[in-house]
Amino acid sequence: MKVAVLIFGLCAIVAATFAASSTWGVRNETDSVIIQQRLLYPAIANKAQTVYFDLPASKQSNSKIISAIYLLDQFQNSTGPTNTLVWGGPGWTYASVQLRTSTSIGLNVTAVVYGK
Ligand SMILES: *[C@@H]1O[C@H](CO)[C@@H](O)[C@H](O)[C@H]1NC(C)=O
Ligand SMILES: *[C@@H]1O[C@H](CO)[C@@H](O)[C@H](O)[C@H]1NC(C)=O
Ligand SMILES: *[C@@H]1O[C@H](CO)[C@@H](O)[C@H](O)[C@H]1NC(C)=O
Repeated sequence: MKVAVLIFGLCAIVAATFAASSTWGVRNETDSVIIQQRLLYPAIANKAQTVYFDLPASKQSNSKIISAIYLLDQFQNSTGPTNTLVWGGPGWTYASVQLRTSTSIGLNVTAVVYGK
């Protein structure tokens, strides 16, 4: 009688390529928080969502030079968005970041912008 022995290798967990949290620039300890905001978008079935985080927000102004932008994914399961800095950012007084969610996954991100 032949016994087939199956060996289950330990598959290395694929490093999360879902860029969940992103940082641009370096925060200097003398910098203050320009804005801290929770970005919350519920999931839409079978759809990826594209969301923009803009600084300053419409109808607001900002005169501080941005030193760092932090996007902190609040999901604990690596289904955060892919984040792209579209314009502005560190060194400028404005910034626009595009957040693209995975299909059928919502968004729960805290954005913090530092500057002086
Ligand atoms: C933070 O800012 C101060 C004042 O502009 C500067 O002297 C210092 O080198 C900066 N530190 C870092 C880590 O960039
Ligand atoms: C967003 O993340 C925070 C921190 O993990 C959690 O407390 C909150 O319930 C989340 N909100 C949603 C709608 O998932
Ligand atoms: C990740 O967690 C969030 C919040 O709990 C949930 O909405 C989302 O469906 C989860 N994603 C997966 C793939 O489980």
